[in-house]
Amino acid sequence: MRIYFDHNATTPVDPAVVDRMRAVLSEDFGNASSVHHFGQRAKGVLDDARSAVAALIGGEPSEVVFTSGGTEADNFALRGAAEALEPTGRRHLIATGIEHEAVLNTLKALSRRGWTTTLLPVDRSGIVSVDALTDALTDNTAVVSVMHANNEIGTVQPIAALAEAAHARGAVFHTDAVQSVAKIPVDTRRLGVDLLSLSAHKFYGPKGAGALWIKRGTRVSAILTGGKHERNRRAGTENEPAIAGYGVAAQLATIKLATESPRLAALRDRLEETILLRVNGTAINGVRDPRVPNTTNISFEGIEAESLLIALDLEGIAVSTGSACSSGTLEPSHVLRAMGLPAHRTQNSIRISLGSGNTDAEIDYFLERLPQVVGKLRTVTGMRR
Ligand SMILES: Cc1ncc(COP(=O)(O)O)c(C=O)c1O
Repeated sequence: MRIYFDHNATTPVDPAVVDRMRAVLSEDFGNASSVHHFGQRAKGVLDDARSAVAALIGGEPSEVVFTSGGTEADNFALRGAAEALEPTGRRHLIATGIEHEAVLNTLKALSRRGWTTTLLPVDRSGIVSVDALTDALTDNTAVVSVMHANNEIGTVQPIAALAEAAHARGAVFHTDAVQSVAKIPVDTRRLGVDLLSLSAHKFYGPKGAGALWIKRGTRVSAILTGGKHERNRRAGTENEPAIAGYGVAAQLATIKLATESPRLAALRDRLEETILLRVNGTAINGVRDPRVPNTTNISFEGIEAESLLIALDLEGIAVSTGSACSSGTLEPSHVLRAMGLPAHRTQNSIRISLGSGNTDAEIDYFLERLPQVVGKLRTVTGMRR
């Protein structure tokens, strides 16, 4: 038995997505920039996918720029907006301490090029306060970037209020919605943001496809220069098969969200409640609400997260110690650290992220095996069960 509880790292590709990608690979091989029949068919494929992605986030197709994934979308948002706003003299960027590395390391790169950066704190539950942003904003602030849902703990930030505060000081607002899209309703207009990143492989699409949604009128410079693709905003021949699959994944997500979200929340809540009841020395990290429905992050006192991950893997259960990028490094999670959790708790936490294939039977199996696995590990470390 193999159980996959690591959907925030990536998701299995939906069979309907695979079918569409296979068809495009073999039949619609044209270059969307070509004028002839083959090119126009390829352009049609891109148009359909663009409309589907736009519909998923409440945007206009013309506002969607395809990228190679969430990392490029975040880079494009921050570097592109920073460059476009340079002539205004604004040289200050704001993000939070719990952003994904795609944002944090881009900010570091920009700070080496003379930009001032501020990382906002989060509270113990992993939430950024509007007051903290208001205090950090200056007339010099060009861009504010706050992720919608956190990849490690799943908490959802008050984006609409944060965007309003940023706009009041004339700053552009970006949100990394890679972990919220297809898990909770994401509506660009309701959120009131200017830029929004998303990535196909987090919702049953292929890896290597993503998008930056750019609200009409927002100034963003291209970071990939070359041909006139994507209305001059992102050069390079589009990854047609992946984008076609992305479109199907977006359509499926739009249809399934209303039923899948409560189903996953029920599984997750049962999982959490039972663990807290059956295994002592456990605690949930981050606020329980608002949170994406598929994610939980749990500390197990007296146990190294890596040992628990390996022991569960031997039982056929795949979980994570945090973001996929930092797992395998034994680095304590920057997210849990930013929340002010004590060192031991940042090192004994695992993330369980559920998805479409997970069933009640899988949760039962996990809940049956977990207390024994934890008990064994604690016997090794000398801690009472
Ligand atoms: C919040 C967040 N932003 C950005 C990314 C990067 O997306 P991609 O893997 O498509 O580059 C991830 C992926 O883990 C993520 O969780």
